[in-house]
Amino acid sequence: MVQFRLPPNSKIQKGKRYASPIKGQRMKLFQVYRFDPDTKDNPRWDTYEVNLDECGPMVLDALIKIKNEVDTTLTFRRSCREGICGSCAMNIDGTNTLACIKAIEDCRGDLKITPLPHLYVIKDLVPDLNFAYAQYASIQPWLQSDTPPPPDKERPQSQEEREKLDGLWDCILCFCCTTSCPSYWWSGDRYLGPATLLQSYRWIVDSRDDATGKRLDELEDPFKLYRCHTIMNCTNTCPKNLNPAKAIGEIKKKIAERVG
Ligand code: SF4
Ligand code: SF4
Ligand code: FES
Repeated sequence: MVQFRLPPNSKIQKGKRYASPIKGQRMKLFQVYRFDPDTKDNPRWDTYEVNLDECGPMVLDALIKIKNEVDTTLTFRRSCREGICGSCAMNIDGTNTLACIKAIEDCRGDLKITPLPHLYVIKDLVPDLNFAYAQYASIQPWLQSDTPPPPDKERPQSQEEREKLDGLWDCILCFCCTTSCPSYWWSGDRYLGPATLLQSYRWIVDSRDDATGKRLDELEDPFKLYRCHTIMNCTNTCPKNLNPAKAIGEIKKKIAERVG
């Protein structure tokens, strides 16, 4: 498969411009990153004019409208349209976010859309997340208990134990945080990145899980965990308002307490 990492803006060529079939009072230009693996062409910016009076309020609505009515070749991921599947993660106006919950009216001027940065691009706005998913799988994100589950009920947790999972279970694995992290940009082959580390912490603090020691052993590594330098891009960009930087800090604290 031909793949491309997102090149600097200056290397992206100007592409085609598509006028809206129906004009209105509220017209907006969407500049969208295009890359076709079937051609040898460099990536380009295509510009689409959208009549906002004929369009839903979110950026994803505009992309769907463009694909349905103007240019069927435009490729992007989406599923739930409610901010819960993580599929539509992309960079909109310089920020990694979910297109389905990003309001067009919050974007001033022409709107620029690229795939999540620093990943290989499969086509247009679709990045290759295979490696990120493999890193996620490496933390064994499932319950590991030394005891069998009770035959007739779920494993009980106190209210306090359950509350420790808030802000962690809600992660939708969109990777907006990971792809905004400078440490991941430079060391992503070995640094696990904020999304996977937040997920790891989700199991570390789960009262029903008995693999905490093993999980911390696995993370105690100069690259997997300690490439985080608390730059905070991850927390600032998370479209679900989660705090992966805090989760990473908590993992470091648990390892330090264990050693001490
Ligand atoms: S922490 Fe937030 S930005 Fe990161 S993967 Fe989870 S939901 Fe997405
Ligand atoms: S706090 Fe850590 S994980 Fe988050 S952006 Fe900074 S270096 Fe990356
Ligand atoms: S389409 Fe599911 S999060 Fe946007």
